[in-house]
Amino acid sequence: MKHNITLLKGDGIGPEISNSVVDIIESTKVEIDWDECLAGNEAYIKYGEVLPEKTLNSIKKNKIVLKAPITTPIGKGFASVNVQLRRYFDLFANIRPSKNLPNIKTPFNDVDLIIIRENTEDIYAGIENKIDENTIHGIKLATKNGCQRICDFAFKYAIENKRKEVTVATKANISKLADGMFLNCFREAAQKHPEIKAKEILIDNLCMQLVTNPSQFDVLVMPNLYGDIVSDLCAGLVGGLGLAYSSNIGIYKQENFAIFEAVHGSAPDIAGKNLANPTGLLRSAIEMLKYIQEKESAKKIEIALFEVFKEGKKLTSDLGGNATTKEFSEEIIKKIKTL
Ligand code: NAI
Repeated sequence: MKHNITLLKGDGIGPEISNSVVDIIESTKVEIDWDECLAGNEAYIKYGEVLPEKTLNSIKKNKIVLKAPITTPIGKGFASVNVQLRRYFDLFANIRPSKNLPNIKTPFNDVDLIIIRENTEDIYAGIENKIDENTIHGIKLATKNGCQRICDFAFKYAIENKRKEVTVATKANISKLADGMFLNCFREAAQKHPEIKAKEILIDNLCMQLVTNPSQFDVLVMPNLYGDIVSDLCAGLVGGLGLAYSSNIGIYKQENFAIFEAVHGSAPDIAGKNLANPTGLLRSAIEMLKYIQEKESAKKIEIALFEVFKEGKKLTSDLGGNATTKEFSEEIIKKIKTL
């Protein structure tokens, strides 16, 4: 069966890692018709919009996106295209796993946790008002529906993926209303799923626990901002941002939509140098292949990737090696061809 998937190659290191990932996927012989569209600065130059109609229509038609990182101007300029996409298609659940990889040396070797990040509310709703020259009000948005659906999702995810425990991380001691509601929704969801152990922790304590004893955690669920920050921390626990992957899942007009993307950004410091590690986007693509029931291709890529890590001869510089993006990807393709 041929699949139609929208491809956003993004910017910075986006095009380099996207080309690698597409080549790797194609080497498994899975049939995908990629609809390459623009978003972000490139789209603005061509269409005068960062999220043009053509791109939105492609996503509406295909319902599945493989997306490389897109630069967001810091402290000025257009609103994050990443956030706009998540909000437009109501992709409320962002799943970000962190697990040790073969031969990637880190201070801990038994990390295996999943962050479920709420993906549409909190300060990412972009509600900021200038009260006067010296005062800004930034609003942390929380709705009952938003809190309920992500907490329910976390328990259902735990059951479907044979996990044992879900921990909620909030700052409900300070944000008594917004995080307080998140916590209450978590408690309600926990009561509906007694087979899964439910635990509560404050976000600051979670950070300390994660850098001293991360293996105590299984599934973690939290509001948007905490999830964003903590998932970079967890990427660091298992080898760095170049390895971290994610799925954005939601329902738009009663149909399932999903965007698969790396956790990292467009890495302007190494863009265009053939140095980027494509693993984060590749592992996101593995999740995408599982999602479209191409499990054999997903498995082949995973086996080949882990083999390359185990051998340790062709690693990119973020992992202490000296292979280029292209050499690393070619090594994976070589392994796939032997499977
Ligand atoms: P970043 O994740 O792009 O880079 C942080 C550090 O990690 C840099 O030193 C970079 O070289 C390194 N790094 C990241 N990915 C790597 C990879 N695949 N291989 C090797 N090294 C890698 O974060 P930064 O610099 O804070 O953000 C840059 C831009 O990316 C910003 O405009 C930001 O808004 C955007 N961004 C976009 C995201 C998305 O599209 N989903 C997510 C996060 C940030």
